[in-house]
Amino acid sequence: MRSKIVAGNWKMNLSQSEAKQLCKEVNSLNIGSGIEVYIFPPMLYASDCKALATNIKVGAQNAYPKDSGAYTGEVSMWQLKEAGIAAVLIGHSERREYFGEDNALLKNKLEAALAHGIKPFFCCGEPLEIRQNGTFLEYVKSQLEESVFHLPASEFEKVVLAYEPIWAIGTGQTASTEQAEEMHAAIRSWVEEKYGKEIAENTAILYGGSCNPGNAQALFACENVDGGLIGGASLKAADFSVLVAEETWTILN
Ligand code: 13P
Repeated sequence: MRSKIVAGNWKMNLSQSEAKQLCKEVNSLNIGSGIEVYIFPPMLYASDCKALATNIKVGAQNAYPKDSGAYTGEVSMWQLKEAGIAAVLIGHSERREYFGEDNALLKNKLEAALAHGIKPFFCCGEPLEIRQNGTFLEYVKSQLEESVFHLPASEFEKVVLAYEPIWAIGTGQTASTEQAEEMHAAIRSWVEEKYGKEIAENTAILYGGSCNPGNAQALFACENVDGGLIGGASLKAADFSVLVAEETWTILN
């Protein structure tokens, strides 16, 4: 049985006191059975959140693959581990776009996270022009091939995948359930080709991009959608509470 995961990516939002307050609220939500909840606060607040989180896990939005050294402004996977941080986002489209992170760097980050026992949430997804020209399956497949599929099975098993079509992020234009399911099923089939049926069945593949209380139930009901990586709707505990609630996961299933 693969994990069901709801993860909140807070991006570069909230003051320190707001972050602590939101963490407390999310930590005390009524979480459906078997659903794992992660928050990814801004790095500066990760330790504050970690100290408050008893029912949820805390991750980092980014980290550098080297352990230590002259890398001004960076935080390493090793440092995350030392601070008790459970997970890290790798390959988010905003990091790819604004910070020039390419598939080769992401491959190094993935290896470093795994080497330190940090759970990687590897993000993939196509921009609008690729969706429109119809080559989106090939595009996402090559992102996975260039950064992820070199891993041995024993390491790949620890990775969570997140499909986030860039045209759906922060736009209010969610992928339809058909679009999400088509991509998620394709991703699972590529994992199966590479690692076999059992590992493919056990891989959690999250959807991200304008997922909210109004559409989460239909998305999470898709056979190959195992949860969500949530931006805007993770910043309000009332919205996030719907995404982690038992009913959102059960009624349509
Ligand atoms: P939104 O939910 O705000 O579209 O953001 C999705 C996202 O980028 C999560 O990582």
